[in-house]
Amino acid sequence: MNRATPSRFRGSAPLLLTLLLSTILLMAGCQASSQPAPAVTATPATAIMVQPEPDAPPYLDPTLPIAQRVDDLLGRMTLAEKIGQMTQVEKNSIAPPDITGLFIGSLLSGGGGYPTPNTPENWLAMVDGFQENALQTRLGIPLIYGVDAVHGHNNVKGATIFPHQVGLGATRDPDLVRRIGQATAAEMAGTGIPWNFAPVLAVVQDIRWGRTYESYGEDAQLVSQLGAAFLQGLQGDNLAAPETVLATPKHYVGDGGVTWGSSATYAIDQGDLQVDEATLRAVHLPPYEAAIAAGARSIMVSFSSWNGTKLHADRYLLTDVLKGELGFDGFLVSDWQAIDQIPGDYYADVVTAINAGLDMIMVPYDYRRFISTLTEAVEKGDVPMARIDDAVRRILRVKFELGLFERPLADPALLAQVGSESHGDLAAEAVRQSLVLLKNDNAALPLDRETPVIFVAGPAADDIGIQSGGWTIEWQGQAGPITPGTTILDGIQAAVSPVALVHYDRSARFDDLTDAGGTPAVADVGIAVVGEHPYAEGQGDSASLAVSEADLTTVQRLRERSKTLVVVLISGRPLIITGILDDADALVAAWLPGSEGGAVADVLFGDFPFTGKLPFTWPRTAAQLPFDFANLPEIGCDAPLFPYGYGLDARDTQPLDLPECGDLEADAAAATQ
Ligand code: BGC
Ligand code: BGC
Repeated sequence: MNRATPSRFRGSAPLLLTLLLSTILLMAGCQASSQPAPAVTATPATAIMVQPEPDAPPYLDPTLPIAQRVDDLLGRMTLAEKIGQMTQVEKNSIAPPDITGLFIGSLLSGGGGYPTPNTPENWLAMVDGFQENALQTRLGIPLIYGVDAVHGHNNVKGATIFPHQVGLGATRDPDLVRRIGQATAAEMAGTGIPWNFAPVLAVVQDIRWGRTYESYGEDAQLVSQLGAAFLQGLQGDNLAAPETVLATPKHYVGDGGVTWGSSATYAIDQGDLQVDEATLRAVHLPPYEAAIAAGARSIMVSFSSWNGTKLHADRYLLTDVLKGELGFDGFLVSDWQAIDQIPGDYYADVVTAINAGLDMIMVPYDYRRFISTLTEAVEKGDVPMARIDDAVRRILRVKFELGLFERPLADPALLAQVGSESHGDLAAEAVRQSLVLLKNDNAALPLDRETPVIFVAGPAADDIGIQSGGWTIEWQGQAGPITPGTTILDGIQAAVSPVALVHYDRSARFDDLTDAGGTPAVADVGIAVVGEHPYAEGQGDSASLAVSEADLTTVQRLRERSKTLVVVLISGRPLIITGILDDADALVAAWLPGSEGGAVADVLFGDFPFTGKLPFTWPRTAAQLPFDFANLPEIGCDAPLFPYGYGLDARDTQPLDLPECGDLEADAAAATQ
């Protein structure tokens, strides 16, 4: 496929309406020249291609330089049309005729913002349907539709769900991450969506944050490298190509560095970054420099604050540093209703945010209020017209770069990309590379396929929803068979020899498994799959990072019923595992693997080696958090349990040798009181 394929040009119906509307607008005394009448010619194939008339306005001529097209279009726009471009509305909140009447420039699906029923075909029809409304406006400026495809096109049932970013951080593999970006873009294109609010570039300094799993790790260089790779995968070499989408590094800047207890809404999410400018520049800014160098064209601003000032109000960081010093000439989009958190009334919020440098506002609900407020602010001179023009120029430039004017609608031929087999294979590859082996005593791993009896336990062993985490179908994610895929149990069952017996009991009771004399049977190998249940954003902030009582019980029960015990931890971050570490012969951090959970078994059974390395320092107790990274003890009970970059190979035969540190859980409990 190349960009010349005339597969997604708009058809004739919207153009006729456009003409009608433009006549009405002209009669109403609206400024600006008349809408051109491009000729519609059917190509021999099924596609319909729009050929601009010789006298069509320059902005519709794809052969002209983008700068010229932007200037031409901007010169034709009314204030209402300009403010419409700066308005982003949540799709369930929009009355579709308002897209046309208020010239809305962008829509989004938030987490869980799917059509019903949730099928790829319905997504395509929904997005194209909204687009038709935009194409009916006088100038026919296409909408840009955005989603959070943060681990695959994750709101879409049946899409490939890749491991969350934390797992990709463990792979340390930029080429893999780039290919995942490419696959994600292809699946998005399959549903007609050109804009992804990803990657997250947070350099997470405190893993108690509920968004830790959305990050590649605690190290600025790792985040920079993998973030740029993902962005390049999404955007390819040519943003206008049919299977590439616009990336959005987020959340600018310092979201990963905020202080526990500084948030008005949650425990840490959306809180305050309390560091000096040198630290901000050294730790949190580098991933954005890398992303801009890699071609970032839109960036999302963070809910968080820097030393008390909301990022959405921080003109220095948005305009002086990002747009000025770093030369970012794409557009800045706000986060979800985030400008409302700026101190003052809504009028002040809008004036402050736009003057600080925000170009598009994720309103996301009450768009009429946003539009009337910004209009009033411009009319009163509180927001200069030059700022509006700059914002709209930035947005239009990217819309032209994306080829939206030439291909505003989806290409149904790309639907087959959603959940394709090759993407599933890629996800499995990522899962295998993301596993980090924390302990492997008694050569417990790799497992033998001929193992006669295996007991599997734990709620996460057979649950696509749990293994996928938050931002999967629903914003918060959800346990259960929420989308197709393979579970870890599926993988174990497929890996063992036909004569091996695999028994699964979620809570490890195995009541009916006794020998002839009624003694509880003992498995050769027990595999406990335990850990976190899905959450997203501040709802996942956790002071204790504790393994649940139920999981501890499951592990203890399985220990009593197995000769060798393997624990697989499903989690978005390191948890406090001292309560299970002694019981486990082997312990594997599997993060949130996504829809190809079965691939975990490929590594447990030795078809592939363990290669993952910790993207986060692993605490011994929650009392050690947040880490003082500059002064981390390396040995003793004050040292982390496992250092950043740790990860065994199954060939390592040295037993894990940890210091005796007393009652760690009691210590931790005392420290958090
Ligand atoms: C999140 C963003 C996300 C947006 C749209 C916000 O709550 O902070 O990361 O892009 O919602 O879903
Ligand atoms: C949306 C999310 C969004 C969140 C913000 C939810 O209702 O689905 O996408 O990030 O609200 O609070």
